[in-house]
Amino acid sequence: MTPATAGTAELHAFPGNEALAGAIADALGTVVVPVEVSRFPDGEARVRVGGDRSRRPAVVVCSLEHADEKILPLLFAAGALRALGAPPVGLVAPYLAYMRQDRAFHEGEAVSVMHFARVLSESVDWLVTVEPHLHRIASLDAIYSIPACAVHVSDAIATWISANVANAVVIGPDAESRQWARSVAETAGVPFEILEKRRLSSDRVEVTVPHIDRWRDRTPVVVDDMVSTGHTMLETVRHLRDAGAPAPVCVAVHALFAGDSYPAVLRAGAKRVVTTNTIAHESNTIDVSDRVAAAVAALTDCR
Ligand code: R5P
Repeated sequence: MTPATAGTAELHAFPGNEALAGAIADALGTVVVPVEVSRFPDGEARVRVGGDRSRRPAVVVCSLEHADEKILPLLFAAGALRALGAPPVGLVAPYLAYMRQDRAFHEGEAVSVMHFARVLSESVDWLVTVEPHLHRIASLDAIYSIPACAVHVSDAIATWISANVANAVVIGPDAESRQWARSVAETAGVPFEILEKRRLSSDRVEVTVPHIDRWRDRTPVVVDDMVSTGHTMLETVRHLRDAGAPAPVCVAVHALFAGDSYPAVLRAGAKRVVTTNTIAHESNTIDVSDRVAAAVAALTDCR
């Protein structure tokens, strides 16, 4: 790794983010220093940032799965870096949490996407994330008051599909995935199909597979932005298998995989489950660090 020089940003990796931070740092020709996070006996967080104490731009790398555990340590780290004189403090959150509750579905419910965006906007100077779940919100600028860049990785997924799955048909599990599945399919030069999904509760979904007969000779590649409870993937795999389709390959950007959802999707009949490295997980196969590094470079002077 190239040693940092004056004016070069330092990457500060939260625990669990070392591998991705290292790859981003390699692409930028800079260094990674770990952020130490431990707990006092009463459970409160103790956070210590390291690195060179000069006035270098700082980039905190912290994917925000299990965000409730991480958000206070993240705010403390940003505050500590500011106290050490880091001029801008940027945040690379490859997975950005709290993007799904974008309205009060029941009276009195917090619209957490707004509250979370306000807290982060007040704590760091810029944000880079990967494929945020923008459904009813047009762009990050609508909710973040700092420069916020959404890195798109559909081309990386399409490249992986082209190299690894012969005769594929891309399957989007619901209407929300249409634009995204279409873009992956068009880049990979294969057809796509969008399923009909009905979410019955936070952990129950129903999926139907229209027009499966058209694609019996192709390998279905189910593409989604995240696997959380796994029910969307699980039901999609089950319905494809029940409809007589070949064992599908499942590709997701963010490997949240609550509980035992990863083995459950495999057990349901998926041929393979593949994710990008936005959240460290054994299914990580598609490296998106170069795309994240390019976005960081555009927001800092660290090249
Ligand atoms: C839905 O809008 C998303 O794109 C995903 O399909 C969904 O969040 C996956 O969640 P789960 O794994 O809990 O079904």
